[in-house]
Amino acid sequence: MSQYIMKGGLPLTGEVNISGAKNAALGIIAGAILTDEDVHIDNVPDVRDTNIMLEAMKELGASVERIDRNTVRINTSSIRNAAIDDDYLRMMRASYYFIGALLGKHHEAEVPLPGGCVIGSRPIDQHVKGFRALGAKIHIENGNVIAKADRLVGDEIYLDKVSVGATINIMMAAVLAEGRTIIGNAAKEPHIVDMANFLNSMGANIRGAGTDVIRIKGVNKLHGTEYSIIPDQIEAGTFMCAAAITKGDVTVKNIIPKHMESVSAKLEEVGCTVIEYDDAIRVIGPEVIKPANIMTLPYPGFPTDMQPQITTLLALSSGTSMVVESIFDSRFKYVDELIRMGADIRVEGNIAVVNGINEFSPAQITAPDLRAGAALVLAGLAADGITIVNEIEFIQRGYEHFEKKLAELGATIDIVDSEREAKKFAMKVG
Ligand code: UD1
Repeated sequence: MSQYIMKGGLPLTGEVNISGAKNAALGIIAGAILTDEDVHIDNVPDVRDTNIMLEAMKELGASVERIDRNTVRINTSSIRNAAIDDDYLRMMRASYYFIGALLGKHHEAEVPLPGGCVIGSRPIDQHVKGFRALGAKIHIENGNVIAKADRLVGDEIYLDKVSVGATINIMMAAVLAEGRTIIGNAAKEPHIVDMANFLNSMGANIRGAGTDVIRIKGVNKLHGTEYSIIPDQIEAGTFMCAAAITKGDVTVKNIIPKHMESVSAKLEEVGCTVIEYDDAIRVIGPEVIKPANIMTLPYPGFPTDMQPQITTLLALSSGTSMVVESIFDSRFKYVDELIRMGADIRVEGNIAVVNGINEFSPAQITAPDLRAGAALVLAGLAADGITIVNEIEFIQRGYEHFEKKLAELGATIDIVDSEREAKKFAMKVG
């Protein structure tokens, strides 16, 4: 099993290019099912999740051609079978996007039910509510979601809970439906807008994405497109926190600063200097990190996917902070690992009380999930000595060349596959 090994304690400095947004890519790849023509997608991050999604498209019968590392051409005209059974896909939450896309195009879908996951129970009732409103019959059989519709007809759907996945999925099921669909209490995340832009570039008629009411007028057919995915807001935020926690000076490039507002504001609050450019943000870490209170919220609130990284930063603050996780019910599991590095954090339900300490002590720790894994790497980079992070496959699900990008900023970090390699690294870095 691969591990990250790093010698922390040095400030990160320099510039880092941010990759395409993983969560946008997952929806957009599935969205290619909605046309028989070629879909050319650029800025696809080369990470485990998108690669699994592309493999699953092939399993379904689509032709997937990788033009270069971050560009793919997909043609789904040869998909005949709307049932998908892929073991990898079962482990991935975003497999639910196949339901909306297959239902929208083929009026049927059979897709493994996305499992619960380490960050908490993750129901899909709002997705199902939307599909049913459009006229689909949905049932669960042998762990699969089976969806069927004679015809799909637009309707008004008010989401009981703001859900990124349900909003995107209902958009995909509705673009080819008859008549008009209105999604109320829709999610407003940047990748909702990206998904709508992508579908509109194929001839869909979606208005209002980015607000909480999305209006979709069904069209008969979608055509091919060439589309470039937006930059990854969470990858950018992670590197901004890396600058802060190592007291470094990092410019994250190729981003949309507007998408970063909640993160930039918090970093300023804790004492960072944050300088915004047209498509970049420079973060200079403070000598003393000030405490702050945070509550995760749907966009434009503070993202739950940045909660572990900011909590890790606050663990080194000069006072007491409170972090409230309001989106997922079990997203503080990594705190036990931070405690092993000396952090003083108490978790009660969905609230973490974080008493700042002066420094982390290096340790061998284990990534419990994707974003928490990245946060533990940040902790390791701040700790003076050698830290090892196990289970890095989680991190590789969503960060393209994480260790390479960190090394380019001056971090001493590598991937090792054995104790021997780890010892060699330790000898080399002294
Ligand atoms: C997406 C992101 C994930 C991010 C999350 C919140 C993708 C592939 N993943 O996940 O990285 O952490 O948004 O920004 O884009 N809920 C229901 N019923 C539903 C759907 C959701 O109760 O049918 C609840 C969830 O349990 C959660 C909340 O709604 O408490 C938000 O979930 P949602 O926005 O749907 O998250 P995902 O789309 O799964």
